[in-house]
Amino acid sequence: MNIGQLEAVARAFCSTANLGAGFDTLGLALDRYSDTVTVRLTQSPGIRIIFKGTMASGLPREADRNAAGPPAVALLKRARSKKGLAITIDKNVPPGLGLGSSGATAAACTKAVDRLFALGLSSDELLQFASLGEKAVSGTAHADNVGASLFGGFVVVYDRPVKAISFTAPSSLGIAVATPAMPARANKTRRARKLVPRKIETAKAILNVGRASAIVAGFARHNISMIGSGMIDEIAEPYRRSFIPGYNDVKRLALEAGAAGVAISGAGPSIVGIVDRTAHNPQTVARAMARGFARNRTQSTWFVARPAPEASIIRSQ
Ligand code: HSE
Repeated sequence: MNIGQLEAVARAFCSTANLGAGFDTLGLALDRYSDTVTVRLTQSPGIRIIFKGTMASGLPREADRNAAGPPAVALLKRARSKKGLAITIDKNVPPGLGLGSSGATAAACTKAVDRLFALGLSSDELLQFASLGEKAVSGTAHADNVGASLFGGFVVVYDRPVKAISFTAPSSLGIAVATPAMPARANKTRRARKLVPRKIETAKAILNVGRASAIVAGFARHNISMIGSGMIDEIAEPYRRSFIPGYNDVKRLALEAGAAGVAISGAGPSIVGIVDRTAHNPQTVARAMARGFARNRTQSTWFVARPAPEASIIRSQ
């Protein structure tokens, strides 16, 4: 075994997944919140999870229920280590809002353990290990949030075993996010995934493949209106939007305020609008979204963001 360090610290940003038509395949890293994960080798085997940070309360510490646990267990095995890991999660991405909170934790943990053991994993291997964290939290190892948090910018995840292609987002891309105040629901993502039908009609698949391709082409060409034109979903949103109060009003007002496209952020309940900052102000879009919620007697919070950079090692020793 090649032990590189005794401790490594990595940081990964939050993200928005799906962007409408790209259910489980498209992700965009956002520079609003990040998690920082410190991994330290321990003589006793097993995983110990310690929380700190503003968003730590109520999250599971059991390794098999926390997004950091399964990647860490699998990486210990990959490193053929008989030691254990103490994992300190400085948790600042709010969980349960559709902002890739578990993905950010899993990405930062995977990046840190890769450095700790000097494993030199490829990008796709990092993605495969990190997505094990999503399986623990939501029941499936979808890799859209994890990919965005690991690689930054805009990411396409595809195939089995999963692989990623990352793109630098257009420099004028702004992101407006509004979140309705709703009671927290345990296992929110797991439940939201159960709402999605197991089978879809070919006609709907054709619409989604075409629109998701338009989103990817828009990122490749740095054409924000092309990105927005693909942000309409036939697979998940039709079954999830009724759980978001005022979804139709929020979407309409955001588009009227200049958003190029609007969708549920990940499994919700946040709603994301993407904005060409050379033409419109993301704050105006975010405020319009908040008005849409208010019209539906729902309080909300909002923020604007820019695409975030990749997960990075902050320190290792
Ligand atoms: N693609 C995932 C979903 C993201 O929509 O369920 C949430 O983890």
